[in-house]
Amino acid sequence: MTPRIILFTGKGGVGKTTSAAGTATLAARRGERTLVLSTDAAHSLGDAFGLPIGAEPTEVATNLWVQQVDAQRRFERSWGEVQGYLRSVLDTVGVDPITAEELTVIPGAEEVLALLELRAQVVSGTWDVVVVDCAPTAETLRLLALPEALGWYMDRVFGVQRKVVRALRPVLTRAAGVPMPEDSVFDAVQRLHADLSEVQQLLTDKCATVRLVLTPETVVVAEARRSLTTLSLYGYRVDGVIANRVFPSGAGEAFLDGWARAQEKVLAEVRQSFVDLPVWLSAYQAGEPVGADLLAGFAEAAYAGDDPFAVPTGEGPMTITRTDSGAVLRIALPFAQRQDVDLARHGDELVVTVGSYRRLLALPAALARHTVSGARVEEGSLQVRFRFEEESR
Ligand SMILES: Nc1ncnc2c1ncn2[C@@H]1O[C@H](COP(=O)(O)OP(=O)(O)OP(=O)(O)O)[C@@H](O)[C@H]1O
Ligand SMILES: [Mg+2]
Repeated sequence: MTPRIILFTGKGGVGKTTSAAGTATLAARRGERTLVLSTDAAHSLGDAFGLPIGAEPTEVATNLWVQQVDAQRRFERSWGEVQGYLRSVLDTVGVDPITAEELTVIPGAEEVLALLELRAQVVSGTWDVVVVDCAPTAETLRLLALPEALGWYMDRVFGVQRKVVRALRPVLTRAAGVPMPEDSVFDAVQRLHADLSEVQQLLTDKCATVRLVLTPETVVVAEARRSLTTLSLYGYRVDGVIANRVFPSGAGEAFLDGWARAQEKVLAEVRQSFVDLPVWLSAYQAGEPVGADLLAGFAEAAYAGDDPFAVPTGEGPMTITRTDSGAVLRIALPFAQRQDVDLARHGDELVVTVGSYRRLLALPAALARHTVSGARVEEGSLQVRFRFEEESR
C-alpha cells in the first residue's frame, strides 16, 4: 500500500523542519512506521532531533526514522553510467578531467536524486507515513516541476537521439573520434525517466499532500499564496497551512501585545486567503522546540485535535467534466488573475503559464484529439473547453 506522504514547504526559516519533524513524531507515536526525510541540503533534521543523522534512515525513536538525502552519493550510484559517458566525451574533446567532473554534475542533479530517494523509500513497502522536509519554496517548486519537465525533455531528446545514434554509431565514432553513448546509457536514461514518472504519479496521488508553513508576516503570506497557485498548476494538492511563531495576545507587555495585534491582522488575511484549507496556529515558544518530545508537543498543539494524517476528500487540482458537446478541463489556480495566465495548445499538449511558472501538460487521450473551443480564468481556476467533433463522439 502507498504510504501517506506529506511534504512541508514555505519561505526560509518559517519552521518547515520543525513542522515536518513534529508531524512525523506524532505519526510514529500513533504506531505508524514513519520516515521523515529531508531534501534540503541544509540538513537541519538532525538539529531538530538533537541527534546525528545519516544518509540512510536512522531510527531516532520507536517507529520513527530520519534520513537526510545525500545527493552526491546517490548521484554516483545511479548516474555513474551517464556521467561516465559524458566524462569520456569531454575527455576525448580535450577537457581536463577536473573540469569534466564539474561539467557532468548536471544542474538540478541534487533535486533529481532527492526525488529518486523519495521514490525508493515510498515504494519500499517499509513505511506507513513518509514526511518530507523540503527546501525553501522556490527550490521545492523547482523540485516538484521536475519530473514532468524532465520526462518531456527525455522523451524528445533521448528518444530521437537513440535512433540516430544506433544508426550512426560506427560512422561517427570513427569520423569524429568521439565515443557514442552505449545502449546502456540510454537504458539508464530510460530507467530514470520511468522512475521520475512514478515519482510524479505518487506525489499527485490522493495520498500525497503539501502543507504550507508560514509566519504571520505580509511578505511571507504573499509568498505562500503564490506557492498555492503554482503547486495547483503542477497538480499537487495542498491540504493545510501552518501559521507558526504566533505571539500570544494579552501578555501584558506593550512590545508583545503590539506584535500580537499586528499578527492578528495578518492572520485574518491568512484565513481569508486559504478559506478552503485548515489554518493551524503554532505559538512562538520561549525556546527552540528540539528533540522528539518538544516536537510532538509542537505538532499536537498546532493540529489542535484535527487528524493530521487524514487523506483529503474532494477533487484534486485538475478535473475533466463532460458536457453536451464536449468536455471542460479545469485546473485550479487559486488567486490567479486572467492577465497572469497564458494558454497555448501545442499538438497533444497544453502549455499553461502562470507568472513565471509553466506547465507542459500532456492532454489525456480522451481530449487530445479534440479542438479547444474556448478558455477562461474564473473564480480561481482555468477552464479549457473542448469541442468533440461529430464522428468522434
Ligand atoms: N514556534 C516556534 N517557537 C520557537 N522557536 C521556533 C518555533 N518554530 C521554529 N523554531 C525554531 O526556529 C528555527 C528555524 O526553524 P526551522 O528550522 O523549523 O525552519 P525552516 O523553515 O526549516 O528553516 P530553513 O528554511 O532554514 O530550512 C529553529 O531553530 C527552530 O527550533
Ligand atoms: Mg529546514
